[in-house]
Amino acid sequence: MDAQVNSLDAFWMPFTANRQFKDKPRLFVAARDMHYTTHDGRQVLDGAAGLWCVNAGHCRPRIVDAIQRQAATMDFSPAFQMGHPLAFEAAARLSAMLPDGLDHVFYVNSGSEAVDTALKVALAYHRMRGEGARTRLIGRERGYHGVGFGGISVGGIGNNRKHFGAMLGGVDHLPHTHDLARNAFSHGQPLHGAELADQLERIVALHDPSTIAAVIVEPLAGSTGVLVPPVGYLERLRDICTKHGILLIFDEVISGFGRLGSPFAIDRFGVLPDMVCLAKGITNATVPMGAVVASSAVHEAFMHGPPGAIEFFHGYTYSSHVLACAASIATLDTYRDEALFERAAELSPYFEEAAHSLAGLPNVIDIRNLGLVAGVELAPRPGAPGARAYDAFVACYEAGVLLRATGDILAISPPLIISRAQIDELFGVLGDVIRQLA
Ligand SMILES: Cc1ncc(COP(=O)(O)O)c(C=O)c1O
Repeated sequence: MDAQVNSLDAFWMPFTANRQFKDKPRLFVAARDMHYTTHDGRQVLDGAAGLWCVNAGHCRPRIVDAIQRQAATMDFSPAFQMGHPLAFEAAARLSAMLPDGLDHVFYVNSGSEAVDTALKVALAYHRMRGEGARTRLIGRERGYHGVGFGGISVGGIGNNRKHFGAMLGGVDHLPHTHDLARNAFSHGQPLHGAELADQLERIVALHDPSTIAAVIVEPLAGSTGVLVPPVGYLERLRDICTKHGILLIFDEVISGFGRLGSPFAIDRFGVLPDMVCLAKGITNATVPMGAVVASSAVHEAFMHGPPGAIEFFHGYTYSSHVLACAASIATLDTYRDEALFERAAELSPYFEEAAHSLAGLPNVIDIRNLGLVAGVELAPRPGAPGARAYDAFVACYEAGVLLRATGDILAISPPLIISRAQIDELFGVLGDVIRQLA
């Protein structure tokens, strides 16, 4: 019996090489501020903010306290035709953080749900306005928008799509913006590639604007390996969408909540979408939560018809879960009172220099960065794509640093509370590992 309880067999792990992992497991049992504690008692510096989500650092007392108090006061309140005050407070706080015009918050439980919800809002929006022929959705190659059928359909990562059949119909993709020939080792936004946004005009011409509902992109693509948007690219996408009446959706599940040294990528790039998808840092990853924040114009299109009619037939049992709302309010308080987004902006130049100090090391073919995100791309081992970065990830973990490997790219995205000394430690360990790596 005990053997079964202690077995690693029953848990089918997500996005994991299950057999390889269970052969030599890596387990975390505690976390505080910038560090995890492993099952064998070692401290590991968190260079990945968990999974791009623990932006304020781990087990922050104010957030822990808010969740504990709420759990003891009211554990759950239904969200359909009922409400609770914290949902309204959390939504008002969140919309106040976003630029004017992004005013209406629809809560979900994850980034994947946020994406699928935004796509459904886009389709319903056009139908409500009598443009029901606008059913096409445009994503981008290498985009990651979670794992729902909507998200993998507009997403552009082959492995996430190939096993799952036809997915949504009527989807097209922009080309990705990764261009090592012209942009390798760019500091901040790369200079070349704004013209790739013009490919949207080609797609629009092919299908006719009257059939296109929305374009969805990550302003900075994270999970595919840190692709920073070229200077001028997002602005052009916005202009083309506006010109053709197409909604622009920014998936800020990673880029939101200070990651780029601004509250959102929207602020960093000065480009306003019609909807934004959020998750991860919205609760500092303590309680699962996501959100779609829609423009007033999008929301307004739904607010017609008899007042007794449900305007949008969509939602989840746990939309605006009271523990998540309590956690979110405490998280937003923490970001504000500790000025963590400003801190991220101040640290960015130091972080950038530390990241680029790895240039010239063996097999490093690119380094890219923005805010407190960096990607270090390694040359793949012949015949074994991804193996070199995976080995680097494991070696870093064993040396006391958590990073994320995706393909042959190492992604670094620490909590915003990281110190300069910890930035040195992080890139110091990574540099040593890369030097020793075959
Ligand atoms: C840009 C983006 N969108 C959506 C998601 C999916 O979020 P979740 O894993 O919470 O469903 C992620 C997750 O990494 C993401 O990076």
